[in-house]
Parts: sequence; structure tokens; C-alpha cells
Amino acid sequence: MALLKAATDVRERAYVPYSNFKVGAAIRAASGAIYAGCNVENVAYPEGTCAEAGAIAAMVAAGDTEIAEVLVIADGPVPVSPCGGCRQKLAEFASGDVRITMATLSGKSRTTTLAELLPGAFGTDHMEEG
Ligand code: THU
Repeated sequence: MALLKAATDVRERAYVPYSNFKVGAAIRAASGAIYAGCNVENVAYPEGTCAEAGAIAAMVAAGDTEIAEVLVIADGPVPVSPCGGCRQKLAEFASGDVRITMATLSGKSRTTTLAELLPGAFGTDHMEEG
């Protein structure tokens, strides 16, 4: 419930003059602290950042580096799905069994895991020499 409220509240502050699609993300860290982020767009479109990236930045800035749970919310017809880049960003700080809930303002939601969203994720194990 705390994650839902944090994501819903921060979503209101999203800066989305180009897509008009507000997204809010909330992360519960292993410490128990909750961090929130919204999407922040830019006139140079690729420079815009996703809500998940904002929440991750807030978490790291506060000194946490272990994600325990994630919730993302938007006002779409179906639960908003984190983009591919954000799945990789989450994988930096979350294990595959971390629960990710995708929600709509109207109350629909779907909960899955990071491993389901990003099978075969690239990680440090791919860089170690055999
Ligand atoms: N967006 C997010 O912030 N998170 C997601 O999970 C999906 C997409 C943003 C990026 C852009 O500002 C807008 O939604 C439309 O793509």
C-alpha cells in the first residue's frame, strides 16, 4: 500500500509535455525505505528519463543499493510495462525474484518478477573469464 501511494503521488509530478503520459515508480529497498521517481521528458526526446530511472537514482543517492520490491503506475488501459532499458537498470540492483507490480490508475494490476520481465539478463557472470 505504501508503494502504491508513493508511486501514485509522484506520478502527479511527472514532467511530460511531449507524451502527456505520466508514470510513477516506487521502490522498496532492502532497508525498508521507499524511493519514488517520475518520468522527466526533454525537448531532445531521447534525453528524457523514465520513472524507474528516477526512483533508482533517488535510492542510490540516499545510500541504498538493494531493491526488494517495485511498483509502477500509469493511466493506461492495461498495466504499464517497464521498458527494456529500465528492466536492465532494475537488474543492476534487484535479483530475479524481486516482485514487480504494474498498475493502472483505474485499479488494474499485474505482479510478476524481474526474471520474467528480463530473462537471460546480461550480468557480471558474462564478463568473468572461464
Ligand atoms: N515511461 C516510463 O517512465 N516508464 C515506463 O515503464 C514506460 C514508459 C515513460 C517514458 C516517456 O516519458 C513516456 O512514458 C512515454 O513513453
